[in-house]
Amino acid sequence: MKVARVKLSDRAAAGVYPDASGPEIERIVEQAFAEPLEWTRVLLPDNQPKLEQELRRLVDEEKCLLVLTAGGTGPSARDFTPEATRAVLEKELPGFGEIMRLTSYAAVKTAILSRATAGIRGRSLIINLPGRPTAVAECLPLLVPAIAEALDHIAGFRPKLRT
Ligand code: MTE
Repeated sequence: MKVARVKLSDRAAAGVYPDASGPEIERIVEQAFAEPLEWTRVLLPDNQPKLEQELRRLVDEEKCLLVLTAGGTGPSARDFTPEATRAVLEKELPGFGEIMRLTSYAAVKTAILSRATAGIRGRSLIINLPGRPTAVAECLPLLVPAIAEALDHIAGFRPKLRT
């Protein structure tokens, strides 16, 4: 199964600090799915046209079934990830963002600042995650059953989960 992880951060892309949430995404997905995974790893500055172009490439050319973004979902002037994602989606699946905000809110009151969304383009599922590695670890495991179900519906392929 081809999976892409895309980190959005001006500073990580400039080499100011290393991307820690991309490896965290990979660890959690590898732990969750009992399928051989082929990863595409992308690091981008917070730039809406570049992200739209990259999401289209990952889905239309690389045929990644699952594309997970990290970062750029907040309220800051340079947070564009949900806008770029919506621009390339054919159908939005708002439940992914809703459950991340709802579940995280119990422990982190600022979770409602995330505008993360998700949806379908072609046979692929694109999901926005918050940027911090701890936030990825809190949110991504919640989504695993719905990721498997969604891929079954849109790609006719249900990835096996580890028990
Ligand atoms: N969700 C969880 N589980 N844990 C967090 O620490 N941080 C919040 C929110 N969601 C957070 C979280 C904060 S402070 C912001 S601004 C938004 O995610 C957006 O983060 P992003 O811009 O890195 O995507």
